[in-house]
Amino acid sequence: MFGGKHYDIFATILGFGKSYYEKVASVLPLEEGICVLDIGCGTASVGIAISENLGGNVCIHGLDLSGVQLGYAAYKGKKMKVSVNLYKGSMDMLPFAAEVFDLVVSSVAFCETTSDVRKSAIREVSRVLKDDGYFAIVDCSKPIFGLDTVMMLPFFMFKENADSWNNNYPDICRENGLDLEKDVYLKSYVKCQLFRKHY
Ligand SMILES: C[S@@+](CC[C@H](N)C(=O)[O-])C[C@H]1O[C@@H](n2cnc3c(N)ncnc32)[C@H](O)[C@@H]1O
Repeated sequence: MFGGKHYDIFATILGFGKSYYEKVASVLPLEEGICVLDIGCGTASVGIAISENLGGNVCIHGLDLSGVQLGYAAYKGKKMKVSVNLYKGSMDMLPFAAEVFDLVVSSVAFCETTSDVRKSAIREVSRVLKDDGYFAIVDCSKPIFGLDTVMMLPFFMFKENADSWNNNYPDICRENGLDLEKDVYLKSYVKCQLFRKHY
């Protein structure tokens, strides 16, 4: 029902419009020429914002479960002249070789999965990241006060996001060789935790 174009409209109304994605891109460790994977990419808004931030000098891959989201992502990429390589699949079984990405990002997608999927996804991310590569988890989190938190409270009730709420990602990531480097709120109920793969 809320797929593709309608998802983007609905998301924009809820505060996940262009400026949100620009903000996500602005907290990421971006460098020209890097290879990026977005897991749970939806309509590829994060990939497009990263590409715009780097003037197109980046290789973007996006993976999502939903064919509808991927179809619209492909349309959007073409329309905005951004090259995005899209894959249908689940983030807990990544169809990529080991150590190929400089940066993996996931924006508001972990909160739509189960704890088991999240744990396997983090293991998979560690596998596909190059040494010294980065992993950014952007997820609904324990809110700090803000009007947008009040607006979003009904949506939290339907999301299984205990790992984010209880701040479990640093421990789960550390077990997979990923150390927390940055922890920043992007909205009063959404934060970005940036991890780095160590040798
Ligand atoms: C709220 S949307 C966010 C989309 C996009 N990351 C963004 O910030 O606009 C969550 C996305 O996660 C996808 N998703 C949920 N579970 C997934 C899984 N196990 N593997 C891959 N994608 C998944 C959904 O299909 C949906 O497109």
